Amino acid sequence: MEIYHPPVMLKEVIKYLKAEEGGIFIDATLGGGGHTEAILKANPKNRVIAIDRDEEAIERALKRLEPYGDRVSVYHANFSQVGEVLEAEGVDRVDGVLFDLGVSHFHLRGERGFTVWKEQPLDMRMDRRQKLTAKDVVNELSEKELAEIILKYGEERFARKIAREIVRRRKVKPIETTTELAKIVEDVIPKKLWIGKRKHPAVKTFQAIRIYVNRELEEIEQGIPAAAEHLDCGGRIVVITFHSLEDRLVKNIFKELPGFKVVTKKPIEPTEEEVKENPAARSAKLRATEKEC
Ligand SMILES: C[S@@+](CC[C@H](N)C(=O)[O-])C[C@H]1O[C@@H](n2cnc3c(N)ncnc32)[C@H](O)[C@@H]1O
Repeated sequence: MEIYHPPVMLKEVIKYLKAEEGGIFIDATLGGGGHTEAILKANPKNRVIAIDRDEEAIERALKRLEPYGDRVSVYHANFSQVGEVLEAEGVDRVDGVLFDLGVSHFHLRGERGFTVWKEQPLDMRMDRRQKLTAKDVVNELSEKELAEIILKYGEERFARKIAREIVRRRKVKPIETTTELAKIVEDVIPKKLWIGKRKHPAVKTFQAIRIYVNRELEEIEQGIPAAAEHLDCGGRIVVITFHSLEDRLVKNIFKELPGFKVVTKKPIEPTEEEVKENPAARSAKLRATEKEC
């Protein structure tokens, strides 16, 4: 049996999208298709236009979504291209858009070097058509650029030291695997700060490099306003984020969207029950905004 990415805050997504009321929805981050399927089930008249930049995710989700026939269309694209996707679909206005950001269960369990816990080549591309990989970033950027990326996207206070050590080690031999990168970070961050803790000390550095490789923040900055242009009156944008950097960015983008009112004064968090069942949901935060009429 196929194991799917467990969709996070499923009930909350359906509620905040008002998916039971019926309409056309965009799932900007199809992944395993769990949210898309729930939207399709919420009302038999619902249609979903789904986007993902990962071809493997699309292949898997398509199998799951077969029973829904032409109620769902799937596009291999970046969500910043949502305008072009809608044009290809012949749709101008939609009733809701979901962004469930970040990596999926498949990325973490796969072989593209997204996790510090497995020895794999440093890749981290969500879209394999893209040229730039994590290995290029780690081996080719200057010490200053690496320090900036690790500080900005990882909010890692040891960023400068980590960058310096990366550059020192790659002079001896290129850094090619997740384990090599993780070991560099372990050697830089004082042991008393991480020994005995569950979180690996290199998690922030990995997050930073992944965000840079996939231009994740630029995608959010372009994707949300682009989707907003196609929302019908009363339609909503719902975004689930997984770290503070994304959440702050989404909060600020929402504030500046003309003609929208924020529905969630404070971000909605998963219930304790959900976190118990799916620990990966623990840092999720959901925000929603609505197009005013
Ligand atoms: C957290 S998963 C989504 C899980 C999905 N909601 C589900 O129920 O299975 C995020 C997905 O979004 C995709 N993704 C991330 N950034 C993207 C972007 N800028 N454009 C298109 N897809 C993106 C990733 O490839 C990944 O499959």
